Amino acid sequence: MSYLSEEQSFTLNKIEQLVKNKFIYEGSGHDWWHIFRVKETAIKIAKAEQADLFLTELGALLHDIADHKFHGGDIEAGPKEAARILNDFGLADSIIIRVCAIVKEVTFKGEGVPTPCSSLEAACVQDADRLDAIGAIGIARAFAYGGSKGRLLYDPELKPAFFSDFQSYKSTLAPTINHFYEKLLLLKDRMNTNAAKVIAAQRHAFMETYLEQFYSEWNASK
Ligand code: ADP
Ligand code: NI
Repeated sequence: MSYLSEEQSFTLNKIEQLVKNKFIYEGSGHDWWHIFRVKETAIKIAKAEQADLFLTELGALLHDIADHKFHGGDIEAGPKEAARILNDFGLADSIIIRVCAIVKEVTFKGEGVPTPCSSLEAACVQDADRLDAIGAIGIARAFAYGGSKGRLLYDPELKPAFFSDFQSYKSTLAPTINHFYEKLLLLKDRMNTNAAKVIAAQRHAFMETYLEQFYSEWNASK
């Protein structure tokens, strides 16, 4: 089991304040509370997996710091900004490199695109981020994100697509229900850790029930 030193706790608190101030008013599903939940879940998984708690918490706090969706599709924007912040806090290069790898590896890139993790800590953060995309909260976030992009809830004439590359996955303009098939329902089988697999199974079942209810209400109006 890894423990945090006093200095590490101090640094984490400072970085948490910085991230909180930046994201508190974000309205597209990437608000501070998303980052907070990912941090809490990542720590819980990291403890079960005996991963390094300092690296995991830094990775979770910084995982959405400069999302490609809001930076012209640049997938290096997040790791670069994370490196800048960690450097400002005087952290060693060896830590910066490892946290930047976590930030880079978290993102889901489409059904046909593998997203391997090069460390146990990245696996914990990736799982925590993906757990927050499913279940009741995941459903709320998907519709919040869809709304922020002016997407329809559902269009029975537009079928979900299979994406074999990140570019086409992130450019889709499809209704939010399609996102369930293009990402949310796929996540349960892409969890890395056993702890996350257990939580994912329950959240997945809830999404299936939700979809059944959604379609039954939709069809009741025919
Ligand atoms: P995360 O924060 O988990 O890394 P993303 O950055 O990909 O996930 O997206 C933020 C939230 O918006 C997630 O809950 C995700 O499922 C949702 N989202 C992303 N793309 C879409 C989309 N095309 N339609 C609806 N929701 C989306
Ligand atoms: Ni996230």
